[in-house]
Amino acid sequence: MTAKECITGRRSIRKFTDQPVSHELISKIVETASFAPSWKNTQIVRYIAVEGEKKEQLAKCTSSFPGNGVIISNAPMVVAVTIIKGRSGFERDGSYTTRKGSSWQMFDAGVASEAFCLAAYEQGLGTVIMGIFDEDEAAALLEIPAERELVALVPIGYPAESPVAPRRKTVGDLLTFQ
Ligand SMILES: Cc1cc2nc3c(=O)[nH]c(=O)nc-3n(C[C@H](O)[C@H](O)[C@H](O)COP(=O)(O)O)c2cc1C
Repeated sequence: MTAKECITGRRSIRKFTDQPVSHELISKIVETASFAPSWKNTQIVRYIAVEGEKKEQLAKCTSSFPGNGVIISNAPMVVAVTIIKGRSGFERDGSYTTRKGSSWQMFDAGVASEAFCLAAYEQGLGTVIMGIFDEDEAAALLEIPAERELVALVPIGYPAESPVAPRRKTVGDLLTFQ
């Protein structure tokens, strides 16, 4: 698979088969995703693979968007993307390095999440990044400590659908030259 095939072929998958995702395979995917770039190579992203009863409880942390709960219930595994706060975009004394403040840690989480989803796709797995869930409830369930933050939930499994790519903007819309 070329990089272009991987980037353009990946789709958000919201229906999965019952086939479980092995711990070995998810470890391999995280190893690949670890090569994502990060602020000063701080590597602040940590992944939590959630299965079984805890995943069912996580599915209930979706009152803000119940459709996401159905997707989580049907996925064999959900990977929670978390970050260690206060490093990416920060100086050692705790001050912000740039006027973007703490935004860089979310930037790093996004970069890593896409690397994770692409690595999963290359291994035949489908993913969907979820931003809408009951954050406080989910973080409590996953016992995320105060120095970390839960950013996204990523249901992952073998795809049971092949969605058509949602329409993309044209290069003319996206790119200008100066
Ligand atoms: C930050 C972010 C948050 C998202 N949140 C959700 C979500 O809560 N539920 C969902 O079903 N899809 C969610 N998506 C998936 C987008 O809807 C999807 O990426 C977009 O429609 C483009 O489709 P594609 O991923 O198949 O190319 C999210 C994607 C991103 C990047």
